Amino acid sequence: MTDPASYRPRPTRLGHLVLKVRDIDRSLAFYTEVVGLTVSDWIDHHMVFLRASEDHHDLALLQLPPGHTDIPEGHYPAVEHFSYRVESIDEMEKITAMLVARGIAIDRGLGRHGPGANTFIVFRDPDGNNVEFYTDMTQITAGSPYEPSVWDGKDWEGQSSGAASRRVGPGSRGAVAWIDRGSRAG
Ligand SMILES: [Fe+2]
Repeated sequence: MTDPASYRPRPTRLGHLVLKVRDIDRSLAFYTEVVGLTVSDWIDHHMVFLRASEDHHDLALLQLPPGHTDIPEGHYPAVEHFSYRVESIDEMEKITAMLVARGIAIDRGLGRHGPGANTFIVFRDPDGNNVEFYTDMTQITAGSPYEPSVWDGKDWEGQSSGAASRRVGPGSRGAVAWIDRGSRAG
């Protein structure tokens, strides 16, 4: 049997970036008006997913928590994570096994986000930066109109603890759900 630690991922492209921001409305105005992105979904009023093309999101903005917004510019890590796309959930599972076998710290996942519906696993590089792999993101095309939703982020902050959460309004969809493969760590 092949050693899981020897598995080499095959990322197809850099897919998205999540930035921490001091004022999410100010930053949203900037990225829609100055950069030209479109809103796909919100989680409460503290995370907004934006797209340039057909991927549900290629940029997301995450509101810094109270007490962190007065830190001078340039003195707070602005990147929450960046994410590489892979082809399949099968590859996501092999990557998870590889990370566990190598003893690499897994910050969250393997799971599936509500907004964008993509599976994800987030782990740390040697400097503590969050790196993510994802697959299966919702595609938004001209032929499939998409109405933004506001998701309930009640348990979003606790996603490392494996909590699920619900969508605001009729029906119920989780902002994050865990895929129980028995291989999750951290
Ligand atoms: Fe992500």
